[in-house]
Amino acid sequence: MKCILGILCLLAWRAATAAPATDTDYISTDEFAKCSTEDDHVGDCIKDIINGLIPRLQNGNPKLKIPPYEPFLLNRTSFRYESGAVKGRISVRNVKIYGFGLYRAKEVSLKIKGDKIKLRLVGEMPKMNILGNYKADMQVNQLQLKPKGDFNVTLFDVEITTGTEGEIYRKDGKRFVRLDEIDSTPKIGDLTIKANGIFPDPELDQIALNVANQYWRDIYGIILPETRQYWQPLILRMLNESLQQIPIDQFLKE
Ligand SMILES: *[C@@H]1O[C@H](CO)[C@@H](O)[C@H](O)[C@H]1NC(C)=O
Ligand SMILES: *[C@@H]1O[C@H](CO)[C@@H](O)[C@H](O)[C@H]1NC(C)=O
Ligand SMILES: *[C@@H]1O[C@H](CO)[C@@H](O)[C@H](O)[C@H]1NC(C)=O
Repeated sequence: MKCILGILCLLAWRAATAAPATDTDYISTDEFAKCSTEDDHVGDCIKDIINGLIPRLQNGNPKLKIPPYEPFLLNRTSFRYESGAVKGRISVRNVKIYGFGLYRAKEVSLKIKGDKIKLRLVGEMPKMNILGNYKADMQVNQLQLKPKGDFNVTLFDVEITTGTEGEIYRKDGKRFVRLDEIDSTPKIGDLTIKANGIFPDPELDQIALNVANQYWRDIYGIILPETRQYWQPLILRMLNESLQQIPIDQFLKE
């Protein structure tokens, strides 16, 4: 879930953690106009840069140490869940996420006041496909479940609204941004879940999946706020780390 939200930061984070960038290896946006913060349309200007870079870099760029992100690979991640009668731990492995290459920013607004910066970004993806293996250890009332298997989740019409706040600082004669807050809300038009191994009996699996697919809106509505405490700080940290490698002078006129 957390990966759906931080597309931009994931991209930048992968670029940043793959290897330390040297001064000459920053993402270059020379072919785009630099945006002026004085301009009322600065948001549209930044939107064009984002929308130009995302498809262009989807197969990765060895020189910038950016790995391919179509699909985006996630080796392993896990989280703990506890709400009412349900509690446990779920971990996922060998996750492949398809769809980031089709991310489009729809609305961008940027406000800079002194060294404070505020960015609001609304973006969308027509379709995402998330494949992988999962393993869970859950307790539902008195029932102990240890499901394990493959999953294939398809999301349609994903819209992500992200608000961030931070500050501009100088390092090596360049301007960088450090974020101290992020707030991300994903909306999904439709979702289909396929999985096996929930129950030993494949027929029970099918029944459980039918229920999950029918009531996904309710499930999502519970899981999203419950898990925000896990993915939101993670996104903030990744975004914050990646921004240390990206001087904003690349994008913004002084
Ligand atoms: C993911 O796993 C593969 C194979 O086990 C490994 O080569 C790769 O370095 C791992 N990637 C990360 C980001 O840990
Ligand atoms: C995953 O599910 C989608 C939609 O149901 C399907 O198009 C796709 O082929 C599936 N992928 C795999 C690897 O099973
Ligand atoms: C963000 O990164 C800066 C370094 O650029 C660090 O000092 C700060 O603690 C980080 N904040 C968060 C919330 O990760």
